[in-house]
Amino acid sequence: MGFCKWFLLAFLCVLAVDDGGLLLLSNGGVTSSFVRNEEKSIDMPFDSDVFRVPSGYNAPQQVHITQGDHVGKAVIVSWVTVDEPGSSTVLYWPQDGTQKDQATGQITTYKYYNYTSGYIHHCTLHNLEFNTKYYYEVGIDHTTRTFWFVTPPAVGPDVAYTFGIIGDLGQTYDSNITLTHYEMNPIKGESVLYVGDLSYADHYPYHDNRRWDSWARFVERSVAYQPWIWTAGNHELDYDPSFGENKPFKPFLHRYHVPFEASRSTEPLWYSIKRASAYIIVLSSYSAYGTYTPQYMWLMEELPKVNRSETPWLIVLMHSPWYNSNTYHYMEGETMRVMFEPWFVQYKVDVVFAGHVHAYERSNRISNVAYNIVNGKCTPVFDQNAPVYITIGDGGNIEGLATIMTEPQPNYSAFREASFGHATMEIKNRTHAYYSWHRNSDGYAVKSDSVVFFNRYWYPKNESAIET
Ligand SMILES: [Fe+2]
Repeated sequence: MGFCKWFLLAFLCVLAVDDGGLLLLSNGGVTSSFVRNEEKSIDMPFDSDVFRVPSGYNAPQQVHITQGDHVGKAVIVSWVTVDEPGSSTVLYWPQDGTQKDQATGQITTYKYYNYTSGYIHHCTLHNLEFNTKYYYEVGIDHTTRTFWFVTPPAVGPDVAYTFGIIGDLGQTYDSNITLTHYEMNPIKGESVLYVGDLSYADHYPYHDNRRWDSWARFVERSVAYQPWIWTAGNHELDYDPSFGENKPFKPFLHRYHVPFEASRSTEPLWYSIKRASAYIIVLSSYSAYGTYTPQYMWLMEELPKVNRSETPWLIVLMHSPWYNSNTYHYMEGETMRVMFEPWFVQYKVDVVFAGHVHAYERSNRISNVAYNIVNGKCTPVFDQNAPVYITIGDGGNIEGLATIMTEPQPNYSAFREASFGHATMEIKNRTHAYYSWHRNSDGYAVKSDSVVFFNRYWYPKNESAIET
């Protein structure tokens, strides 16, 4: 090799260095060569400080909130009491208000093999003002605890809003690092798009449901103060006929309520909300989605309802990714992709977030919708009407990282790396949103992968020219 070729190679290598180390360029995109120290991910023990039970008789624990209606003027407050049912009333008041309002919810319990749940309270606060800080108090008549949240701005096309994105969190030491990085990130997420697999209680014999309790105590420090938008993953299926638990999703559906009826869904496993300038559709990878099924019929009627003049950003959450070039769970999302991808292209979905694979991957804008059994057109192609697909199942759960990628990196894959982390999506206006992924091994402010999304409806240009 002559001097000129060596010089050119060296120049290309310098070009390929970013915050995380050397990037290997291939046909498909970037497979980061950042190597995380391989350590087994183990659950934090029950006596860890992050699982501490609040003191006081019948003190509310596992406090969490989510959006409670279709537009962001309601919040569902949930918590657990263990000594006795206690009150399901929530007192709440705006930061600048003098009058306390109250709402009263309902209590549910469930049994799971030899486990009996605490008293699970769900209470919806309605008719809140947009863009307002509220305090709320639970545990009335016994030990009370007070938290706060900020309602989103009124729905509108140029409303700035920042989402965090977390998936497959679990409750290991790595999970704790992921949540801490999300909290410490200078880009402040205002609510979390959670793409499924919460506690991993089913990892334990008889799905030890005390791990559902400990998980909810662990994440309370975030989800009591900002809504997490829930997606069901395979670890929420949580059934096992071998010990008589035959009903899928039983612990999850008792513990996590969502406003599915507000979007005319018939099941809490798929639904939609509007939040600021975003329309968010949540799908269930583990519910039927074939033609004529309730989820299929709901989505078919839902997509035409999205008014991009009101909510320019169309975001879909699901658990099992459609475009995944990791060997882990390879092609598990394929059947749902075949059913729904033509609609995503037709209605110009901006971005799809999925979890399940314990690594990170971002796709190019590609589609694979031309195949009709006989034409042989079954390869993803670049398509500016298509979403970007992001796999972010890298929250840090007990199953560890998925480190083995398919080779070579396919063309649809823009960036992939097996590290734990979280992402943020800062919507600026109807045309631009700043997206970044943050690996746990870096400092809180470091963006390990980032791109500016151009809105598919208002500004459908190719973003790849300005990837950062
Ligand atoms: Fe999963």
